[in-house]
Amino acid sequence: MPGKKLQIKFTKVRKSGKGLQERMLFLRGAVKNIHQVGSILPSSQAVAQSMTQMLRQQPAPRRILEVGAGTGPITARIVREMKPGDHLDIYEIDPKFTAFLVERFAREPNFQRVAHQVAIHTDSIEAIKPQAQYDIIISAVPFTNLPPDAVKLFFETYRTILRPDGVLTYIEFIFGRTILRVFARKDARKRLRGVDNVVRRYVSAYEIKRQIVPFNAPPARIRSLRFDE
Ligand SMILES: C[S@@+](CC[C@H](N)C(=O)[O-])C[C@H]1O[C@@H](n2cnc3c(N)ncnc32)[C@H](O)[C@@H]1O
Repeated sequence: MPGKKLQIKFTKVRKSGKGLQERMLFLRGAVKNIHQVGSILPSSQAVAQSMTQMLRQQPAPRRILEVGAGTGPITARIVREMKPGDHLDIYEIDPKFTAFLVERFAREPNFQRVAHQVAIHTDSIEAIKPQAQYDIIISAVPFTNLPPDAVKLFFETYRTILRPDGVLTYIEFIFGRTILRVFARKDARKRLRGVDNVVRRYVSAYEIKRQIVPFNAPPARIRSLRFDE
């Protein structure tokens, strides 16, 4: 198309020992419970940038919730974007991951800078108080592995705890459910179809933005939803 440039951004792959330690911890968590973790590699920097786009659009102060932080690749980008007056709650179900995050907030300068504005909860998001309190939710919980009713419950929980005008941004893997359906047995195929239907209903009613991120393993789709009636 004339005058329109396709920009492709190559992100640096961290080769430090710390990055390797992070990937090994993540892989161990995935091997132990692939259904809960949902992938074998932490998200790329390109995903982290896309997942945090609302932080660059909404003025501070903001109440931010990150769900399923894992070893913190997206958290690392959130803390860079945080301003005075912002507050971040992190819900992560795996205690090994939250222990790793606590270390990052103690040792890494970008994390240390905002540590007093952050609370880490080693808990399932289902345990959160059902009260409208967040401007931005960033969720990496793998919906594809859940039963359809649980996916619906996630969307409804997020809707309940977002303030009016608040935005949910979440990640899914491109063709994830479609590919799984090819290999799945009959009952699993039925579950995946059910998840698809739930996701499609919420997306068609509330999606405000969608972005494809090819530079991730596997490639991802980032969706933002606003639940205004
Ligand atoms: C796909 S991983 C994403 C990790 C990290 N945010 C990243 O992008 O690399 C999903 C994370 O969600 C966590 N998780 C799964 N179910 C959860 C729940 N109900 N509440 C909180 N965290 C959950 C898993 O332990 C895992 O760390």
